[in-house]
Amino acid sequence: MRKETWPGVIERYRAFLPVDAAMPIVSLGEGGTPLRHAPRLSSRVGADVYLKLEGSNPTGSFKDRGMTMAVSQAVAQGSRTIICASTGNTSASAAAYAAAAGIDAVVLIPSGHIALGKLAQALVYGARVIQIDGNFDEGLHLVRTLAESYPLTIVNSINPYRLQGQKTGAFEVIDELGFAPDAQFIPVGNAGNISAYWLGYREYYEAGFAQQLPKMYGVQAAGAAPIVTGAVVPQPETVATAIRIGNPASWSLALAARDESGGAITAVSDEEILQAYILLAREEAVFCEPASAASVAGLLKTPVSPGSSIVCVLTGNGLKDPDTAVSQVQVPKVVGTSMKEVAEAIGL
Ligand code: F0G
Repeated sequence: MRKETWPGVIERYRAFLPVDAAMPIVSLGEGGTPLRHAPRLSSRVGADVYLKLEGSNPTGSFKDRGMTMAVSQAVAQGSRTIICASTGNTSASAAAYAAAAGIDAVVLIPSGHIALGKLAQALVYGARVIQIDGNFDEGLHLVRTLAESYPLTIVNSINPYRLQGQKTGAFEVIDELGFAPDAQFIPVGNAGNISAYWLGYREYYEAGFAQQLPKMYGVQAAGAAPIVTGAVVPQPETVATAIRIGNPASWSLALAARDESGGAITAVSDEEILQAYILLAREEAVFCEPASAASVAGLLKTPVSPGSSIVCVLTGNGLKDPDTAVSQVQVPKVVGTSMKEVAEAIGL
């Protein structure tokens, strides 16, 4: 008997998405990611904490949820080339979905500030990778300008189809738990994902699938925290390169998510991000990327109601950023091949 397989987010949530029957669906089987209970983190904070493991998506990040929508729509419109600026994950996802659709992808990335795994993905999937001597915000500005003069479809989250796809993360949380959590923590860079989750929670609530809405907690890196400080950051800096963004495109939508839900947008230091990153690996056996750990770093700093239900969205896979990973641990020294030397190295 054939086992039922996960159909991807468009087929699964078609009734909630702007797709018509004629739209060709470009899917890699995204979504359906684990929502794992985190027992040790739960006892640390005195609440019931669940981790949404978005690193389990086909290209290793949540971007695939939005990219299936954006690329399907691009193909439906006859587009031959998609373009994005990216801190890495969007470029990997765009490259993969373009490969699946048989169209071209152009990605602009900030030179020297993109994790190695993401660069490798974009290149191997066959995108045209342009390294710019500038940051993400400058890249996004260039992308907008280029798309005014050339036949290029922007697949950054300023493309509304991206948020439509990404809102399915909220649907899955409610489907899995059977209720909407009391609070959700999520990293914020360009602010698309927090906006998409809020949209998804509200739509499911209005459809009667949830009896409450979660408080939305967005977490920025302290060196790239424009929404927290209320001012554009011209030179954003953080170890969490995925969220190294100083002028988020969905700024006002993120503020709406915060204010309408009664949540907050907070900042965490690089040190707090890296502590949460190691804690997640050692105590919950989750290897996520630094930007993703920002959500847990934010939770650890925020007072929460005892016994409440909390979801932390872990947006990307730890394998994306091997350089940061090995910089946080002791690299083992090489020993000889005698049993004595190996036993000694083990500490026997
Ligand atoms: N976490 C990861 C791993 C990301 O890659 C991003 C954004 C975010 C969180 C923040 O999400 O931008 O919707 O607020 N990465 C984008 C990129 C900017 O180009 O890959 P956001």
